Amino acid sequence: MKAVCFDDVVDRKGSGSAKWDDAARLFGSEDVLPMWVADMDFPSPPAVLEALAARVQHGIFGYPSPHSYAYDAVADWLDKRLDWKADPGWMVSTPGVVTAITLAVQTFTKPGDKIIIQPPVYPPFFSCVLNNNRTLIENPLIHQAGEYRMDFDDLANKARDAKMLILCSPHNPVGRVWSRPELTTLAKICADNGVLIVSDEIHGDLVYAGYRHIPVASLESAIPNQAVTFIAPSKTFNTAGLYTSVAIIPDNNLRREFAKTAQLLGIGKNNVFGITALEAAYRYGAPWLDRLLPYLADNAQYLTRYIADNIPAIKVDKPQGTFLAWLDCRDLGLAPAALAKFFVQKAKVGLNDGLTFGKQGSGFMRLNFGCPRPVLTEGLHRIRQAVSSQL
Ligand SMILES: Cc1ncc(COP(=O)(O)O)c(C=O)c1O
Repeated sequence: MKAVCFDDVVDRKGSGSAKWDDAARLFGSEDVLPMWVADMDFPSPPAVLEALAARVQHGIFGYPSPHSYAYDAVADWLDKRLDWKADPGWMVSTPGVVTAITLAVQTFTKPGDKIIIQPPVYPPFFSCVLNNNRTLIENPLIHQAGEYRMDFDDLANKARDAKMLILCSPHNPVGRVWSRPELTTLAKICADNGVLIVSDEIHGDLVYAGYRHIPVASLESAIPNQAVTFIAPSKTFNTAGLYTSVAIIPDNNLRREFAKTAQLLGIGKNNVFGITALEAAYRYGAPWLDRLLPYLADNAQYLTRYIADNIPAIKVDKPQGTFLAWLDCRDLGLAPAALAKFFVQKAKVGLNDGLTFGKQGSGFMRLNFGCPRPVLTEGLHRIRQAVSSQL
């Protein structure tokens, strides 16, 4: 198998990729450089590719049994990487984290119940609540002293009559890796008010030097029936199209109820390739990830430096984790529709419109830097040129 080089550009056009093959239709232009949906432009680790090839070679693709071979690998990974002793018996198969969030909303709340989210945040957090006729309560993040923080006074007020909080940890799109004191305060407010924490930790392995992802359920103060956690190898190892994630629910009653909803809907199973990739990634993927992380951290450093030096009309905090950058473009002075148009038509880059992350995202755009440096450089040059011709 070829040695991994993250600088290599792999042509994804024509591979049936949403990011590349839907870009022309979505952005209305053939020549945009896609830097939007959150998958990376890198092949998955060789260990994952080899395991998938071996699975194909075996030739029989009957129903998988993740508990018999894969969830020990998940538990070992969480223990070694995050110091969280999660029992494989707490794990429930889910076909993606967004599906898991919807299942949690349907299982643990009733129509009309109040559910808190912390915008700007990953768009499905809004739709999972609203599409299920629950009441959306916003506890917006605040930008203070150069970084986004949680507004705990507002949270304490809103938690009083809420049933659930959907936490994004680390946070998409603002790139914060929540600290132990922050998570402890959040968990205390939720515990005091009987609010269940649904913790989306899909970006939990993508954290840069100097920061540490702490699973909220691993906090010493956490009580087992206070949190359900969703993890997946999909962002970390670039296997999002395999739709395989794991719900980790220590409390027996909550786990049974959650699994029952999945069963009622006929979605409590996983795809054999998804489970094969998950096992290989968690068992053998660490050396690859330990090379990817400094590469992404260098991309983050390059991007923030480049923008500060060359495009002062755009502001960006250096991401602490994730491969996503949250660009504050308000100084360009464009209305939201004009801003989105500017990036597509003038800069010819396909980014996510900040407004889809909530009204707090007005004037912002999200850029995915999970790509080879030459691609990132090209995207940044395009933005720089467009901004200098604009001003
Ligand atoms: C915070 C967050 N949760 C969930 C997802 C998607 O998860 P899945 O594809 O497993 O539904 C993403 C993808 O970008 C994400 O950023």
